[in-house]
Amino acid sequence: MSGRAALGGPRLRPLLLRLPLLLLLRLPAPAAPRSFAVDRARDAFLLDGAPFRYVSGSLHYARVPRRLWPDRLHKMRTAGLNAVQLYVPWNYHEPQPGVYNFRGNGDLPAFLRMAAQEDLLVILRPGPYICAEWEMGGLPSWLLRKPDIVLRTSDPDFLAAVDSWFHVLLPMVQPWLYHNGGNIISVQVENEYGSYFACDFRYMRHLAGLFRALLGDEIVLFTTDGPEELSCGTLQGLYATVDFGPADNMTESFAMQRKYEPRGPLVNSEYYTGWLDYWGWNHSTVGVKSVSKALEDILEVGASVNMYMFHGGTNFGYWNGADWKNKYLPVTTSYDYDAPLSEAGDPTPKLLAIQSVISKFQELPLGPLPPPSPKMKFGPVTLKLDGNLLDFLNVLCPDGPIHTHKPLTFEAVKQDYGFLLYRTRLPQNLTEPTQLWVENNGIRDRAYVMLDGVFQGILERDKEEALFLTGPAGGTLDVLLENMGRISFGYNMSDFKGLVQPLVLGKSVLTDWLLFPLNIDALMDVENRVFETQKNNSESPSGPAFYSAAFQLPGPAWDTFLYLPGWTKGQVWINGFNLGRYWTKRGPQQSLYVPGPLLLPTGALNNITLLELEHAPPRPQIHFLDRPLLNATTH
Ligand SMILES: *[C@@H]1O[C@H](CO)[C@@H](O)[C@H](O)[C@H]1NC(C)=O
Ligand SMILES: *[C@@H]1O[C@H](CO)[C@@H](O)[C@H](O)[C@H]1NC(C)=O
Ligand SMILES: *[C@@H]1O[C@H](CO)[C@@H](O)[C@H](O)[C@H]1NC(C)=O
Ligand SMILES: *[C@@H]1O[C@H](CO)[C@@H](O)[C@H](O)[C@H]1NC(C)=O
Ligand SMILES: *[C@@H]1O[C@H](CO)[C@@H](O)[C@H](O)[C@H]1NC(C)=O
Ligand SMILES: *[C@@H]1O[C@H](CO)[C@@H](O)[C@H](O)[C@H]1NC(C)=O
Ligand SMILES: *[C@@H]1O[C@H](CO)[C@@H](O)[C@H](O)[C@H]1NC(C)=O
Repeated sequence: MSGRAALGGPRLRPLLLRLPLLLLLRLPAPAAPRSFAVDRARDAFLLDGAPFRYVSGSLHYARVPRRLWPDRLHKMRTAGLNAVQLYVPWNYHEPQPGVYNFRGNGDLPAFLRMAAQEDLLVILRPGPYICAEWEMGGLPSWLLRKPDIVLRTSDPDFLAAVDSWFHVLLPMVQPWLYHNGGNIISVQVENEYGSYFACDFRYMRHLAGLFRALLGDEIVLFTTDGPEELSCGTLQGLYATVDFGPADNMTESFAMQRKYEPRGPLVNSEYYTGWLDYWGWNHSTVGVKSVSKALEDILEVGASVNMYMFHGGTNFGYWNGADWKNKYLPVTTSYDYDAPLSEAGDPTPKLLAIQSVISKFQELPLGPLPPPSPKMKFGPVTLKLDGNLLDFLNVLCPDGPIHTHKPLTFEAVKQDYGFLLYRTRLPQNLTEPTQLWVENNGIRDRAYVMLDGVFQGILERDKEEALFLTGPAGGTLDVLLENMGRISFGYNMSDFKGLVQPLVLGKSVLTDWLLFPLNIDALMDVENRVFETQKNNSESPSGPAFYSAAFQLPGPAWDTFLYLPGWTKGQVWINGFNLGRYWTKRGPQQSLYVPGPLLLPTGALNNITLLELEHAPPRPQIHFLDRPLLNATTH
């Protein structure tokens, strides 16, 4: 395998040409044409003409800080993998129609280059839909600005958006294809399309044609589906593969693949090493023995395999997705996945067991597996109250509110993620407690209710909690709506956010609203200075409120885990970076991974800001731990 991906991508070539010795050592002589293909005669893949199987692992670059990409890739290679599989999250790269972001953590070519430097081949899954338990399965929420769009079908509006995105993405990827000198050996079309209700072959044919037109005829294109879902997921010309976990019957799963691909390599494109967590559920784990045993069975029959996940990472910011299982289930901030490399990138016993299985089938690369990175523990750090969120509306929504008769959705006011505040006035005196409610489960996803600035409580999607108000006519009713992440897998992913039905007070529908789309992240960018100048010196918080502190580290900027005992639910920023959601009260996740590269070492001041949405503890303190707490029992 050596020399295979060593040339890396096109950008590496000039560098290597300037290093003739390295070039001589690495180039096969005479240079054979680079090729990757499906060989039906030998039921195998062919790499440069020789039978080949990949042992791959999934890593999602948007879930790992860029500075840690080389570390994670190096550990994957050292574990014995020869390939890395990755999704391209469309919504991460095209935040607004026609506006593209490939900088920093979105620098896909840089990621491909780093993988090449580790001698890893790449299996690319560009979507357009990726699931991945990522916000809206990777689809940009701006697609929903046309409310009746039918996602993942040949709806002309959907196809037009997909076409224009792929005309940007695929030409960027094309020079990285293996036969063009890069490391991408295969490209997946759509993602588990057989699990989607639409079963629109016109759509799949359109995508296949687009991939061929932009990537050429030589690249191996494939699909992935659950063994029972292949009929709507496969298409002539796209190699059909399956996905299944250690508890599934491998023989039966591969038999299903064989129905669609009578010859060619057996492939499990998603072999589940662990599982994800939902807020309010138990932490998921999958045993080391079952994962390594079933992996051995897969390798024994000569199949290619990709382990999903090999390194899960973190749903930073607002990027978590959600599932729908008769109710809405948002995914936690941690995407540790109980994967072989932990959320903090440390080798686990599962990784060692997997490495040992791989070593029975192919040679491991030379060199030791790096040890766990150092972690730090310190605190408590005491935060100060900056003020209630309502005191900052002028800076959080500098353009002022939108006036509407009935409430509009996030999508209608182009608020993609985060928070939107709805304000109206009480139409009448409420002398008796009067119920505030929404028809047809119309809260997406949580509403924090204040009357004249005083916190009244919460309304939540799929919960029949009653909220009763008393107050004078004309009182200011504020309803802060939180988007907890759009559904990433299920029948219908048109998961509009906000108040999707009107609020009702007693029997009267509330009208005449002011909508404040809040840009909290912009405020964090300019740091606490805005808080200091705008500070209202609220002595007592009521409902959503900001807290912050500046703190020094006890030493070098090592990884740590932010622990928030007694806090309820909210969002955290460290040095302007949106670390994600916490929900101590619901669990199971109790600590947030803080990657060392986000922090400044001793001598410099780091800043942390919390938006606590409900109740802070009596002493507003936080702690930094040297190990994660992901498995608290929930109630
Ligand atoms: C898996 O399925 C095959 C074929 O149906 C069956 O013969 C075998 O016993 C099953 N294996 C297990 C472990 O259940
Ligand atoms: C969570 O774990 C507890 C304790 O192990 C168990 O009693 C409970 O049934 C589990 N809940 C779910 C939803 O699996
Ligand atoms: C401070 O609070 C007062 C009363 O709650 C409010 O009228 C004012 O707008 C707030 N000031 C700022 C700068 O938000
Ligand atoms: C509400 O009550 C106040 C006095 O309690 C009264 O002056 C006012 O007219 C009432 N307003 C409405 C709209 O009923
Ligand atoms: C999906 O749900 C949205 C909002 O509830 C609805 O408008 C739309 O018609 C649904 N789409 C499908 C395909 O069922
Ligand atoms: C944190 O805030 C302090 C002032 O409170 C400022 O001096 C410092 O530069 C900030 N640090 C970062 C990393 O933004
Ligand atoms: C949670 O995980 C820690 C560390 O892995 C372990 O020591 C502890 O026993 C676990 N607790 C529960 C309740 O599973």
